[in-house]
Amino acid sequence: MVDMTRTDNNPPQGPLAVEVRGLVKHYGETKALDGVDLDVREGTVLGVLGPNGAGKTTLVRCLSTLVIPDAGTAFVAGYDVVRQPRQLRRTIGLTGQYASVDEKLSGRENLYMIGRLLDLSRKDARTRADELLERFSLTDAAKKAAMHYSGGMRRRLDLAASMIGHPAVLYLDEPTTGLDPRTRNEVWDEVQRMVSEGVTVLLTTQYMEEAEQLASELTVIDKGKVIASGKVDELKARVGGRTLKVRPVSVSDLPGMARSLSEAGLDGVAGSQIASEEGVLLVPILSDEQLTAVVGLLAARGYAIADLGTYLPSLDEVFLSITGQKPSAPDSVPAQQTEEVAA
Ligand SMILES: Nc1ncnc2c1ncn2[C@@H]1O[C@H](COP(=O)(O)OP(=O)(O)OP(=O)(O)O)[C@@H](O)[C@H]1O
Ligand SMILES: [Mg+2]
Repeated sequence: MVDMTRTDNNPPQGPLAVEVRGLVKHYGETKALDGVDLDVREGTVLGVLGPNGAGKTTLVRCLSTLVIPDAGTAFVAGYDVVRQPRQLRRTIGLTGQYASVDEKLSGRENLYMIGRLLDLSRKDARTRADELLERFSLTDAAKKAAMHYSGGMRRRLDLAASMIGHPAVLYLDEPTTGLDPRTRNEVWDEVQRMVSEGVTVLLTTQYMEEAEQLASELTVIDKGKVIASGKVDELKARVGGRTLKVRPVSVSDLPGMARSLSEAGLDGVAGSQIASEEGVLLVPILSDEQLTAVVGLLAARGYAIADLGTYLPSLDEVFLSITGQKPSAPDSVPAQQTEEVAA
């Protein structure tokens, strides 16, 4: 397997809000966490990806002090999960994988109750509840019992609940699983807003699109172990590299273009490919120098180019390549990234 772990010449920048080293949690024979290392820098979103049973929820539970790890260390906002659980709990918010609101209480009562549990005065708990209802567009449904909320409203209420104590670090365990695309977008907007206000987020997800939208860095875990980590684009580049897509004005130029690149040794190890149905030439790109040389050569030979750009593999392809299985989200859309190249 390719070594996908972070290399030393690319250290993370900025102070760490979450620092996990060698975290282990076994349930009998099951190694739910088998020596996990990860960092989340302050004010950023780390996406933790992994198939079912990878250990994502166990990780979140360890970092929330709900489960005590068997070995390893974890610090959140500088507090040790094992030795300083009380201080740590005051700095975090958690939106669990399964909705945690009280069904019989209204949205407003749920938020008020949590505020009181967090030692807010009656007045402050009321004010905070109303603020958050407003912010998560739940004011109209404030007095309705949570059991009558739609899935999306519940998720928003969950998010609102996790924000009551003004957490510095927020864990979102599969926050949008089961939501329709529109509601998912609303949740993403809220998460982005929290991040813009300085909250650090650790997000577990099986939706590649969600990871692309929200996370700046990713850690992929499988069977309790980290199998890849890095920035989204770095992971894509390491797995598949870039491909240049060139569309000539005239399709009949394609063979000649391919031959020119091959003769100049500019078409990468695997060689370029003609995709005639699309009318494009696909050239594997290994370096910026090669990219410039390819574009330069085609221009020098006088080919009229209608369009060209490079693209990275989709995150779905990356996930498949490193875990050997497809992400289980049924409706995740493979998002292709295109960056335009000036000819
Ligand atoms: N309380 C528990 N008792 C026994 N085994 C457990 C417990 N919690 C988790 N496990 C096991 O640990 C492993 C990791 O589970 P975990 O819930 O952390 O995975 P996950 O990545 O969150 O999966 P999913 O994507 O399905 O939510 C699984 O094999 C699971 O069966
Ligand atoms: Mg889980």
